[in-house]
Amino acid sequence: MDEVEGYIGNFTAKIRKKARYVNPDLCNACGECAKICPVIKPDEYQLGLGSRKAIYIPFPQAVPSVYVLNMQDCLGNAPIACGKCYEACEQQAINYDDADEIITRQFGAVIVAIGLDVYDPTEMDEYGYTRFDNVITSMEFERLICAGGPTAGHFIRPSDHQCPQRIGFIQCVGSRNPKVGRPYCSNICCMNTIKDCLLLADHYPDVKNTVFYQDIRAFGKSFEDMFQRSKAAGTRYVRGLPGDIEENPDTHNLTLTVENTTNGQIERHEFDMVVLSVGVVPPRDRDKLSKLFTLSKTSDGFFMESHPKLKPIDAPTRGVYFAGFCEAPKDIKDSVCQAGMASSRVGALLNAGKINIEAITCRIDPEACTKCGVCASVCPYGAIVWEKGQVAAVIEAACAGCGNCGSACQFGAITMRHFTDDQLLAQVRAILHEDPADKVFVFACNWCSYSGGDMAGIGRMEYPASNRVVRTMCSARVSEEMVLEAFRCGAPVVLVSGCHYADCHYITANRQTVKRVQRLWDKLEKAGVRPERLQLEWISAAEGQKFAKVMKQMEELRKTVTQDEIDHAMKALAPKPKKAKTAKKQEEEAPAPAG
Ligand code: FES
Repeated sequence: MDEVEGYIGNFTAKIRKKARYVNPDLCNACGECAKICPVIKPDEYQLGLGSRKAIYIPFPQAVPSVYVLNMQDCLGNAPIACGKCYEACEQQAINYDDADEIITRQFGAVIVAIGLDVYDPTEMDEYGYTRFDNVITSMEFERLICAGGPTAGHFIRPSDHQCPQRIGFIQCVGSRNPKVGRPYCSNICCMNTIKDCLLLADHYPDVKNTVFYQDIRAFGKSFEDMFQRSKAAGTRYVRGLPGDIEENPDTHNLTLTVENTTNGQIERHEFDMVVLSVGVVPPRDRDKLSKLFTLSKTSDGFFMESHPKLKPIDAPTRGVYFAGFCEAPKDIKDSVCQAGMASSRVGALLNAGKINIEAITCRIDPEACTKCGVCASVCPYGAIVWEKGQVAAVIEAACAGCGNCGSACQFGAITMRHFTDDQLLAQVRAILHEDPADKVFVFACNWCSYSGGDMAGIGRMEYPASNRVVRTMCSARVSEEMVLEAFRCGAPVVLVSGCHYADCHYITANRQTVKRVQRLWDKLEKAGVRPERLQLEWISAAEGQKFAKVMKQMEELRKTVTQDEIDHAMKALAPKPKKAKTAKKQEEEAPAPAG
């Protein structure tokens, strides 16, 4: 997909259909072209363990099952260079002049299912993946044992093409390992290794398998049974991950050193082959899609859903849904479930023919709009349409109601329904109407910080009763004016809190929160107000404890603020009176007399 425009119910996409240089309607997959092709390249589908020609069927189950010509590998059609496949094809299916085609299509909804990539263990040099032939990854193991693989299912080790008799599996390579930037569990590797061990026990009963692990996570239906069966079939499980691997240069056998954490002993194990059970990583081309559909990512790099419990299939952008690994590591069953749910959601949406949106969208007053375009530049959903010199307009179906535009507009041209400036400022004034010096003033976003407060309450966690919370949909709804008004009303300290930086429920809206708070710190400093009286904290919905802790810290901070400081801030931050217009100016601005 090259470009996407529009919004729920009305997406227009430009899709690139890549040239295949073979007419699929004419090709009958006879294979004569591949037989005669002189080019030999590593086969990507076999992970480089096998080879292919420049003209080939990408993988055995490809649909349609017809040939494709890789023009980067092809020697070309000049007869002097090659052109052999062209001559060999009786169907005349080969077309060297084929070109990419851009197709424009309209869609009402989109399902993002771009899959995953696997971790490359090269950087974990202690396992010698690039140094030792007989250290392979679990994906390479799959190809070697597969009947459709490069060895037609005959399991051999790369160094001498003999069937290995002792195999070691190392779990969590690139998973649950913050040192390589992969702190999450990849979800599938334990069961994949258990399945591989059962396969080996079935096909090669004499092979001895040993699995090195930190935990075995066999939590799905029948998974524990598979785990027990693999043990009964002779697989040995050692708790502990090896520190390094050494190779015997004569035999190419491998020795692992590991601390067995069940007995604290340092052990050495010798194997003919070692399989690194590699974790999964977010799909590498996700950034392009992320830009096209304004999708946000979690700190792990997977796409972020609208709500982890209540909307696990929906992207924050309306009309976009997730299926499979791109959202989080999951196994085949969970991916199939999620795909079913996503297609049901799309079916329900399209059949309804209309959508209901929450009445918290923004409204732009064309009279007050100064055509500056700032609102459009901060909208994380692209829901504001603006062109230079034009009044901004909102696409309500695309607006999610974060309020970022309302906070960014300096001219009062944007009203956030149910979270208007007047409503929020009235809350600020009412809360601080009496005894403001005793209060900690808190702005909390609906999705995380406010829920974190709920969590603290449900957990009966103790924290000072001095805080007063104003809820906004997103921390980005908190404008500079609201914070300044709190100080003008005598607040000793103000806390702006929201979801963790990469976890904002409105894609990237809380990046603007950071910028706004930084600007406020500068303003406070210039006005002689201690900047630390304004705090910014990220508190997630699950962090009741953090909420309580932050409230305690804020109370401690409040106690350090003197009445003189409060009075100074009230005065120093008071709005400057507007300069009276000169008589000349008034004359210039006066409407021209009629006639
Ligand atoms: Fe919580 Fe944006 S929704 S900070």
